[in-house]
Amino acid sequence: MRSISIFGVTGSIGEQTVDLLRRAGGARAFRVVALTGGRNIARLAEIARDLQAEIAVCADPADLASLRNLLSGSGVASAAGPQAIAEAADRPADWVMSAIVGAAGLVPGFRALRHGRTLALANKESLVTAGPLLMAEADRHGARILPVDSEHSAIFQALAGEDITAVERIILTASGGALRDWPLEALAAATVKEALAHPNWAMGQRITIDSASMFNKALEVIETREYFGVTPDQIEVIIHPESLIHSMVGFRDGAIMAHMGAPDMRHSIGYALNWPERQELPVARLDLAQIATLTFRAPDLARYPALRLAREVMARRGLAGAAFNAAKEVALDHFLSGGIGFMDMSGIVEDTLTALDPEMGGSNLPEALEDVLGMDHLARDRAGEIARRRARITAQITARSR
Ligand SMILES: NC(=O)c1ccc[n+]([C@@H]2O[C@H](COP(=O)([O-])OP(=O)(O)OC[C@H]3O[C@@H](n4cnc5c(N)ncnc54)[C@H](OP(=O)(O)O)[C@@H]3O)[C@@H](O)[C@H]2O)c1
Repeated sequence: MRSISIFGVTGSIGEQTVDLLRRAGGARAFRVVALTGGRNIARLAEIARDLQAEIAVCADPADLASLRNLLSGSGVASAAGPQAIAEAADRPADWVMSAIVGAAGLVPGFRALRHGRTLALANKESLVTAGPLLMAEADRHGARILPVDSEHSAIFQALAGEDITAVERIILTASGGALRDWPLEALAAATVKEALAHPNWAMGQRITIDSASMFNKALEVIETREYFGVTPDQIEVIIHPESLIHSMVGFRDGAIMAHMGAPDMRHSIGYALNWPERQELPVARLDLAQIATLTFRAPDLARYPALRLAREVMARRGLAGAAFNAAKEVALDHFLSGGIGFMDMSGIVEDTLTALDPEMGGSNLPEALEDVLGMDHLARDRAGEIARRRARITAQITARSR
Protein backbone atom coordinates (compact mmCIF):
# COMPACT_ATOMS: atom_id res chain seq x y z
CA MET A 1 0.00 0.00 0.00
CA ARG A 2 1.39 3.44 -0.91
CA SER A 3 1.94 5.81 1.97
CA ILE A 4 1.10 9.47 1.50
CA SER A 5 1.48 12.76 3.37
CA ILE A 6 -0.16 16.04 2.43
CA PHE A 7 1.17 19.40 3.61
CA GLY A 8 -1.52 22.07 3.27
CA VAL A 9 -4.36 19.55 3.11
CA THR A 10 -7.03 22.14 3.97
CA GLY A 11 -6.21 24.36 0.97
CA SER A 12 -7.37 24.29 -2.61
CA ILE A 13 -4.64 21.91 -3.84
CA GLY A 14 -4.82 19.86 -0.64
CA GLU A 15 -8.59 19.35 -0.96
CA GLN A 16 -8.29 18.37 -4.61
CA THR A 17 -5.59 15.85 -3.69
CA VAL A 18 -7.92 14.43 -1.05
CA ASP A 19 -10.68 14.24 -3.64
CA LEU A 20 -8.47 12.11 -5.89
CA LEU A 21 -7.37 9.88 -3.01
CA ARG A 22 -10.97 9.33 -1.97
CA ARG A 23 -12.04 8.43 -5.49
CA ALA A 24 -9.14 5.97 -5.66
CA GLY A 25 -10.30 4.18 -2.50
CA GLY A 26 -9.23 6.53 0.33
CA ALA A 27 -8.04 4.80 3.51
CA ARG A 28 -8.60 1.37 1.90
CA ALA A 29 -6.14 2.12 -0.91
CA PHE A 30 -3.55 4.42 0.75
CA ARG A 31 -1.86 4.60 4.09
CA VAL A 32 -2.17 8.26 5.00
CA VAL A 33 0.71 9.34 7.20
CA ALA A 34 0.79 13.08 7.98
CA LEU A 35 -1.78 15.74 7.13
CA THR A 36 -1.05 19.38 7.93
CA GLY A 37 -3.25 22.46 7.89
CA GLY A 38 -3.02 26.09 8.91
CA ARG A 39 -5.91 27.66 10.86
CA ASN A 40 -8.80 25.52 9.61
CA ILE A 41 -8.54 22.82 12.26
CA ALA A 42 -12.15 21.66 11.94
CA ARG A 43 -11.54 20.69 8.33
CA LEU A 44 -8.13 19.25 9.13
CA ALA A 45 -9.66 16.97 11.76
CA GLU A 46 -12.49 15.96 9.45
CA ILE A 47 -10.10 14.91 6.65
CA ALA A 48 -7.72 13.20 9.10
CA ARG A 49 -10.59 11.12 10.54
CA ASP A 50 -11.92 10.24 7.12
CA LEU A 51 -8.53 9.16 5.74
CA GLN A 52 -7.45 7.60 9.06
CA ALA A 53 -4.21 9.56 9.08
CA GLU A 54 -1.44 8.77 11.53
CA ILE A 55 -1.06 12.41 12.56
CA ALA A 56 -2.72 15.77 11.93
CA VAL A 57 -0.64 18.90 12.49
CA CYS A 58 -1.89 22.49 12.59
CA ALA A 59 0.20 25.65 12.24
CA ASP A 60 -0.58 27.44 15.50
CA PRO A 61 0.20 25.87 18.89
CA ALA A 62 -2.73 27.86 20.31
CA ASP A 63 -5.06 25.58 18.29
CA LEU A 64 -3.61 22.31 19.55
CA ALA A 65 -6.07 21.70 22.40
CA SER A 66 -9.02 22.21 20.07
CA LEU A 67 -7.49 19.97 17.40
CA ARG A 68 -6.91 17.26 20.00
CA ASN A 69 -10.53 17.61 21.07
CA LEU A 70 -11.79 17.31 17.51
CA LEU A 71 -9.73 14.15 17.03
CA SER A 72 -10.50 12.45 20.34
CA GLY A 73 -11.34 8.78 19.94
CA SER A 74 -10.19 8.74 16.29
CA GLY A 75 -6.74 7.24 16.85
CA VAL A 76 -5.22 10.18 14.91
CA ALA A 77 -2.31 11.79 16.76
CA SER A 78 -2.01 15.59 16.80
CA ALA A 79 0.69 18.23 16.99
CA ALA A 80 1.08 21.94 16.26
CA GLY A 81 3.54 24.61 15.21
CA PRO A 82 6.08 25.08 12.41
CA GLN A 83 8.53 22.69 14.05
CA ALA A 84 5.90 19.95 14.29
CA ILE A 85 4.97 20.51 10.63
CA ALA A 86 8.64 20.12 9.66
CA GLU A 87 8.94 16.97 11.79
CA ALA A 88 5.88 15.50 10.11
CA ALA A 89 7.99 15.44 6.93
CA ASP A 90 10.41 13.06 8.67
CA ARG A 91 7.71 10.39 8.89
CA PRO A 92 8.22 7.74 6.22
CA ALA A 93 5.94 8.26 3.22
CA ASP A 94 6.31 7.21 -0.43
CA TRP A 95 4.66 10.33 -1.84
CA VAL A 96 4.46 13.78 -0.27
CA MET A 97 2.29 16.65 -1.50
CA SER A 98 3.81 20.07 -0.79
CA ALA A 99 0.79 22.40 -0.91
CA ILE A 100 1.30 24.88 1.90
CA VAL A 101 0.99 28.38 0.47
CA GLY A 102 3.98 30.73 0.68
CA ALA A 103 7.45 30.47 2.16
CA ALA A 104 6.02 28.40 5.06
CA GLY A 105 6.09 25.44 2.66
CA LEU A 106 9.84 25.59 2.20
CA VAL A 107 11.17 23.68 5.20
CA PRO A 108 8.78 20.68 5.09
CA GLY A 109 9.64 20.16 1.40
CA PHE A 110 13.35 20.15 2.15
CA ARG A 111 12.83 17.70 5.00
CA ALA A 112 10.88 15.33 2.73
CA LEU A 113 13.61 15.45 0.09
CA ARG A 114 16.26 14.72 2.69
CA HIS A 115 14.58 11.35 3.21
CA GLY A 116 14.54 10.61 -0.53
CA ARG A 117 10.77 10.92 -0.87
CA THR A 118 8.90 11.68 -4.06
CA LEU A 119 7.78 15.28 -3.62
CA ALA A 120 4.77 16.50 -5.57
CA LEU A 121 5.56 20.22 -5.56
CA ALA A 122 2.70 22.69 -5.69
CA ASN A 123 4.52 25.15 -3.44
CA LYS A 124 6.24 27.11 -6.22
CA GLU A 125 7.72 29.47 -3.61
CA SER A 126 10.22 26.69 -2.74
CA LEU A 127 11.77 26.85 -6.21
CA VAL A 128 11.56 30.64 -6.45
CA THR A 129 13.31 31.25 -3.15
CA ALA A 130 15.68 28.28 -2.96
CA GLY A 131 15.60 26.55 -6.36
CA PRO A 132 19.29 25.61 -6.66
CA LEU A 133 19.34 24.29 -3.07
CA LEU A 134 16.13 22.35 -3.52
CA MET A 135 17.24 20.67 -6.75
CA ALA A 136 20.65 19.85 -5.21
CA GLU A 137 18.94 18.37 -2.14
CA ALA A 138 16.81 16.13 -4.36
CA ASP A 139 19.91 14.98 -6.30
CA ARG A 140 21.90 14.35 -3.15
CA HIS A 141 19.25 12.08 -1.66
CA GLY A 142 17.96 10.43 -4.83
CA ALA A 143 14.59 12.10 -4.32
CA ARG A 144 12.27 13.06 -7.13
CA ILE A 145 10.39 16.33 -7.50
CA LEU A 146 7.25 16.14 -9.61
CA PRO A 147 5.77 19.50 -10.63
CA VAL A 148 2.14 20.16 -9.72
CA ASP A 149 1.74 23.67 -11.10
CA SER A 150 -0.33 23.07 -14.23
CA GLU A 151 2.20 24.88 -16.45
CA HIS A 152 5.16 22.91 -15.15
CA SER A 153 3.30 19.63 -15.24
CA ALA A 154 2.45 20.44 -18.87
CA ILE A 155 6.10 21.18 -19.69
CA PHE A 156 7.22 18.05 -17.83
CA GLN A 157 4.80 15.99 -19.91
CA ALA A 158 5.80 17.68 -23.18
CA LEU A 159 9.42 16.86 -22.39
CA ALA A 160 8.81 13.15 -21.77
CA GLY A 161 11.36 11.23 -23.82
CA GLU A 162 12.99 14.44 -25.08
CA ASP A 163 16.49 15.73 -24.50
CA ILE A 164 16.44 19.09 -22.65
CA THR A 165 19.29 20.28 -24.92
CA ALA A 166 16.87 20.07 -27.87
CA VAL A 167 14.63 22.68 -26.23
CA GLU A 168 14.69 26.11 -27.85
CA ARG A 169 12.07 27.79 -25.69
CA ILE A 170 9.42 27.19 -23.11
CA ILE A 171 6.16 29.06 -23.57
CA LEU A 172 4.17 29.59 -20.38
CA THR A 173 0.53 30.36 -20.92
CA ALA A 174 -1.30 32.81 -18.68
CA SER A 175 -5.01 33.53 -18.45
CA GLY A 176 -4.27 37.19 -17.73
CA GLY A 177 -6.35 37.01 -14.55
CA ALA A 178 -9.54 38.71 -13.52
CA LEU A 179 -8.56 42.22 -14.66
CA ARG A 180 -6.99 41.44 -18.01
CA ASP A 181 -9.55 43.39 -20.03
CA TRP A 182 -9.73 46.41 -17.71
CA PRO A 183 -8.38 49.74 -19.01
CA LEU A 184 -4.84 50.19 -17.70
CA GLU A 185 -5.68 53.41 -15.86
CA ALA A 186 -8.52 51.71 -13.93
CA LEU A 187 -6.28 49.00 -12.41
CA ALA A 188 -5.04 51.12 -9.51
CA ALA A 189 -8.58 51.24 -8.10
CA ALA A 190 -9.36 47.51 -8.49
CA THR A 191 -10.75 45.95 -5.31
CA VAL A 192 -9.97 42.57 -3.77
CA LYS A 193 -13.37 41.27 -4.85
CA GLU A 194 -12.76 42.32 -8.44
CA ALA A 195 -9.27 40.80 -8.51
CA LEU A 196 -10.69 37.53 -7.13
CA ALA A 197 -13.12 37.00 -10.01
CA HIS A 198 -10.84 34.65 -11.96
CA PRO A 199 -12.27 33.85 -15.39
CA ASN A 200 -11.22 30.16 -15.56
CA TRP A 201 -9.52 28.61 -12.56
CA ALA A 202 -10.97 28.02 -9.08
CA MET A 203 -7.96 28.44 -6.78
CA GLY A 204 -6.98 29.66 -3.33
CA GLN A 205 -7.49 33.36 -2.59
CA ARG A 206 -3.82 34.37 -2.65
CA ILE A 207 -2.92 32.71 -5.93
CA THR A 208 -6.06 34.16 -7.55
CA ILE A 209 -4.97 37.72 -6.71
CA ASP A 210 -1.47 36.79 -7.87
CA SER A 211 -2.99 35.72 -11.19
CA ALA A 212 -4.61 39.11 -11.65
CA SER A 213 -1.32 40.92 -10.97
CA MET A 214 0.66 38.20 -12.82
CA PHE A 215 2.90 37.82 -9.79
CA ASN A 216 1.86 34.19 -10.07
CA LYS A 217 3.23 34.03 -13.62
CA ALA A 218 6.36 35.85 -12.52
CA LEU A 219 6.91 33.17 -9.87
CA GLU A 220 6.30 30.51 -12.52
CA VAL A 221 8.87 32.01 -14.88
CA ILE A 222 11.48 31.75 -12.11
CA GLU A 223 10.18 28.28 -11.21
CA THR A 224 10.66 27.21 -14.86
CA ARG A 225 14.22 28.41 -14.88
CA GLU A 226 15.03 26.58 -11.65
CA TYR A 227 13.17 23.34 -12.31
CA PHE A 228 14.07 22.76 -15.97
CA GLY A 229 17.47 24.47 -15.92
CA VAL A 230 16.81 26.62 -19.01
CA THR A 231 18.11 30.17 -19.39
CA PRO A 232 15.81 33.17 -18.77
CA ASP A 233 15.81 34.13 -22.46
CA GLN A 234 14.39 30.68 -23.30
CA ILE A 235 11.24 31.42 -21.29
CA GLU A 236 8.32 33.25 -22.89
CA VAL A 237 4.92 34.19 -21.49
CA ILE A 238 1.83 34.39 -23.66
CA ILE A 239 -1.69 35.34 -22.65
CA HIS A 240 -4.11 32.61 -23.58
CA PRO A 241 -7.50 33.62 -22.16
CA GLU A 242 -9.15 30.20 -22.62
CA SER A 243 -6.59 28.45 -20.32
CA LEU A 244 -6.91 25.25 -22.35
CA ILE A 245 -3.26 25.03 -23.38
CA HIS A 246 -1.44 24.68 -20.07
CA SER A 247 1.98 25.45 -21.56
CA MET A 248 4.22 24.57 -24.51
CA VAL A 249 7.73 23.50 -25.33
CA GLY A 250 9.37 24.66 -28.57
CA PHE A 251 12.19 22.47 -29.91
CA ARG A 252 15.14 23.43 -32.08
CA ASP A 253 13.50 21.89 -35.17
CA GLY A 254 10.68 24.43 -34.81
CA ALA A 255 8.14 21.91 -33.48
CA ILE A 256 5.99 22.97 -30.53
CA MET A 257 4.50 20.44 -28.12
CA ALA A 258 1.44 21.85 -26.35
CA HIS A 259 -0.35 20.26 -23.42
CA MET A 260 -4.12 20.74 -23.45
CA GLY A 261 -6.86 19.94 -20.99
CA ALA A 262 -9.70 21.44 -18.99
CA PRO A 263 -8.62 24.08 -16.46
CA ASP A 264 -8.79 21.66 -13.53
CA MET A 265 -5.86 21.22 -11.15
CA ARG A 266 -6.76 17.57 -10.69
CA HIS A 267 -5.08 17.02 -14.08
CA SER A 268 -1.64 17.86 -12.78
CA ILE A 269 -2.21 16.62 -9.21
CA GLY A 270 -3.44 13.30 -10.61
CA TYR A 271 -0.54 13.10 -13.06
CA ALA A 272 1.93 13.53 -10.18
CA LEU A 273 -0.01 11.03 -8.05
CA ASN A 274 -0.10 8.35 -10.72
CA TRP A 275 3.27 9.06 -12.36
CA PRO A 276 4.82 7.29 -14.23
CA GLU A 277 1.48 5.70 -15.11
CA ARG A 278 -1.65 7.44 -16.30
CA GLN A 279 -4.93 6.62 -14.59
CA GLU A 280 -8.44 7.81 -15.37
CA LEU A 281 -9.12 11.23 -13.83
CA PRO A 282 -12.47 12.90 -13.08
CA VAL A 283 -11.79 15.93 -15.28
CA ALA A 284 -13.93 17.31 -18.10
CA ARG A 285 -12.95 16.21 -21.59
CA LEU A 286 -12.42 18.95 -24.16
CA ASP A 287 -14.88 19.22 -27.03
CA LEU A 288 -12.59 20.83 -29.61
CA ALA A 289 -15.31 21.41 -32.19
CA GLN A 290 -17.27 23.36 -29.60
CA ILE A 291 -14.21 25.31 -28.45
CA ALA A 292 -13.39 26.08 -32.11
CA THR A 293 -10.95 28.93 -31.46
CA LEU A 294 -7.91 29.43 -29.26
CA THR A 295 -6.54 32.94 -28.83
CA PHE A 296 -3.16 34.34 -27.79
CA ARG A 297 -1.73 37.77 -27.15
CA ALA A 298 1.53 39.19 -25.84
CA PRO A 299 1.44 40.45 -22.23
CA ASP A 300 1.67 44.21 -21.72
CA LEU A 301 4.51 44.86 -19.26
CA ALA A 302 2.98 48.17 -18.13
CA ARG A 303 -0.07 46.23 -16.98
CA TYR A 304 2.01 43.44 -15.46
CA PRO A 305 5.20 44.92 -13.93
CA ALA A 306 5.68 41.62 -12.06
CA LEU A 307 6.88 40.01 -15.30
CA ARG A 308 9.60 42.63 -15.71
CA LEU A 309 10.62 42.19 -12.07
CA ALA A 310 10.91 38.41 -12.57
CA ARG A 311 13.48 39.05 -15.32
CA GLU A 312 15.46 41.26 -12.94
CA VAL A 313 15.33 38.59 -10.26
CA MET A 314 16.59 35.92 -12.66
CA ALA A 315 19.41 38.17 -13.84
CA ARG A 316 20.35 38.84 -10.24
CA ARG A 317 19.76 35.36 -8.80
CA GLY A 318 21.52 34.97 -5.40
CA LEU A 319 18.91 35.70 -2.75
CA ALA A 320 16.82 37.88 -5.06
CA GLY A 321 14.15 35.16 -5.42
CA ALA A 322 13.71 35.00 -1.64
CA ALA A 323 13.43 38.81 -1.42
CA PHE A 324 11.01 38.93 -4.35
CA ASN A 325 8.71 36.28 -2.95
CA ALA A 326 8.70 37.67 0.60
CA ALA A 327 8.00 41.22 -0.59
CA LYS A 328 5.24 39.91 -2.83
CA GLU A 329 3.61 38.06 0.09
CA VAL A 330 3.73 41.16 2.30
CA ALA A 331 2.36 43.39 -0.47
CA LEU A 332 -0.44 40.90 -1.05
CA ASP A 333 -1.33 40.90 2.67
CA HIS A 334 -1.58 44.70 2.59
CA PHE A 335 -3.76 44.62 -0.54
CA LEU A 336 -6.02 41.97 0.99
CA SER A 337 -6.47 44.04 4.15
CA GLY A 338 -7.40 47.08 2.08
CA GLY A 339 -4.44 49.32 3.00
CA ILE A 340 -2.98 49.72 -0.47
CA GLY A 341 -4.12 49.73 -4.09
CA PHE A 342 -3.76 46.92 -6.62
CA MET A 343 -0.85 48.49 -8.51
CA ASP A 344 0.95 49.35 -5.25
CA MET A 345 1.84 45.67 -4.90
CA SER A 346 4.42 45.74 -7.70
CA GLY A 347 5.72 49.12 -6.46
CA ILE A 348 6.34 47.66 -2.99
CA VAL A 349 8.16 44.64 -4.42
CA GLU A 350 10.31 46.80 -6.68
CA ASP A 351 11.21 49.21 -3.87
CA THR A 352 12.08 46.27 -1.58
CA LEU A 353 14.39 44.74 -4.20
CA THR A 354 16.10 48.11 -4.66
CA ALA A 355 16.47 48.63 -0.90
CA LEU A 356 17.94 45.16 -0.38
CA ASP A 357 20.21 45.18 -3.40
CA PRO A 358 23.44 45.27 -1.35
CA GLU A 359 22.23 42.34 0.79
CA MET A 360 21.30 40.03 -2.04
CA GLY A 361 24.68 38.42 -2.46
CA GLY A 362 25.79 39.21 -6.01
CA SER A 363 25.09 36.51 -8.54
CA ASN A 364 26.21 33.76 -6.16
CA LEU A 365 23.70 31.03 -5.56
CA PRO A 366 22.33 30.76 -2.03
CA GLU A 367 24.59 28.45 -0.05
CA ALA A 368 22.26 27.34 2.70
CA LEU A 369 18.58 27.29 3.52
CA GLU A 370 19.33 29.56 6.50
CA ASP A 371 20.51 32.29 4.06
CA VAL A 372 17.21 32.02 2.20
CA LEU A 373 15.17 32.14 5.41
CA GLY A 374 17.28 35.10 6.62
CA MET A 375 16.56 37.03 3.43
CA ASP A 376 12.90 36.06 3.68
CA HIS A 377 12.70 37.69 7.14
CA LEU A 378 14.69 40.74 6.13
CA ALA A 379 12.59 41.32 3.01
CA ARG A 380 9.35 40.91 4.98
CA ASP A 381 10.49 43.61 7.42
CA ARG A 382 11.60 45.97 4.68
CA ALA A 383 8.52 45.38 2.52
CA GLY A 384 6.33 45.93 5.59
CA GLU A 385 7.89 49.35 6.20
CA ILE A 386 7.50 50.30 2.54
CA ALA A 387 3.90 49.07 2.44
CA ARG A 388 2.93 50.96 5.61
CA ARG A 389 4.45 54.14 4.17
CA ARG A 390 2.43 53.66 0.97
CA ALA A 391 -0.72 52.93 2.96
CA ARG A 392 -0.26 56.19 4.93
CA ILE A 393 0.14 58.17 1.71
CA THR A 394 -2.94 56.47 0.20
CA ALA A 395 -4.96 57.28 3.33
CA GLN A 396 -3.85 60.97 3.22
CA ILE A 397 -4.77 61.28 -0.47
CA THR A 398 -8.17 59.67 0.17
CA ALA A 399 -8.83 61.99 3.14
CA ARG A 400 -7.85 65.05 1.09
CA SER A 401 -10.11 64.10 -1.83
CA ARG A 402 -13.17 63.76 0.45
N1 LIG B 1 -4.76 26.48 -6.08
C1 LIG B 1 -4.23 26.23 -7.24
O1 LIG B 1 -4.94 25.99 -8.21
C2 LIG B 1 -2.72 26.21 -7.42
C3 LIG B 1 -2.21 25.96 -8.69
C4 LIG B 1 -0.84 25.88 -8.83
C5 LIG B 1 0.00 26.05 -7.75
N2 LIG B 1 -0.52 26.31 -6.53
C6 LIG B 1 0.39 26.51 -5.41
O2 LIG B 1 0.06 25.56 -4.40
C7 LIG B 1 0.27 26.13 -3.11
C8 LIG B 1 -1.05 26.05 -2.34
O3 LIG B 1 -1.99 26.87 -3.01
P1 LIG B 1 -3.54 26.84 -2.63
O4 LIG B 1 -4.21 27.65 -3.66
O5 LIG B 1 -3.96 25.43 -2.37
O6 LIG B 1 -3.50 27.66 -1.28
P2 LIG B 1 -4.65 27.78 -0.16
O7 LIG B 1 -5.95 27.32 -0.69
O8 LIG B 1 -4.51 29.13 0.40
O9 LIG B 1 -4.16 26.68 0.92
C9 LIG B 1 -2.93 26.81 1.56
C10 LIG B 1 -2.71 25.71 2.57
O10 LIG B 1 -1.57 26.06 3.37
C11 LIG B 1 -2.00 26.13 4.75
N3 LIG B 1 -1.21 27.20 5.37
C12 LIG B 1 -1.33 28.53 5.19
N4 LIG B 1 -0.39 29.18 5.91
C13 LIG B 1 0.29 28.24 6.58
C14 LIG B 1 1.37 28.29 7.52
N5 LIG B 1 1.94 29.45 7.90
N6 LIG B 1 1.84 27.12 8.01
C15 LIG B 1 1.29 25.93 7.64
N7 LIG B 1 0.27 25.82 6.76
C16 LIG B 1 -0.23 26.97 6.25
C17 LIG B 1 -3.46 26.42 4.69
O11 LIG B 1 -4.10 26.07 5.89
P3 LIG B 1 -5.55 26.68 6.37
O12 LIG B 1 -6.37 26.82 5.13
O13 LIG B 1 -6.04 25.59 7.30
O14 LIG B 1 -5.28 27.97 7.07
C18 LIG B 1 -3.86 25.51 3.55
O15 LIG B 1 -3.88 24.17 3.97
C19 LIG B 1 0.77 27.55 -3.35
O16 LIG B 1 2.16 27.58 -3.34
C20 LIG B 1 0.27 27.88 -4.76
O17 LIG B 1 1.09 28.82 -5.42
C21 LIG B 1 -1.86 26.39 -6.35
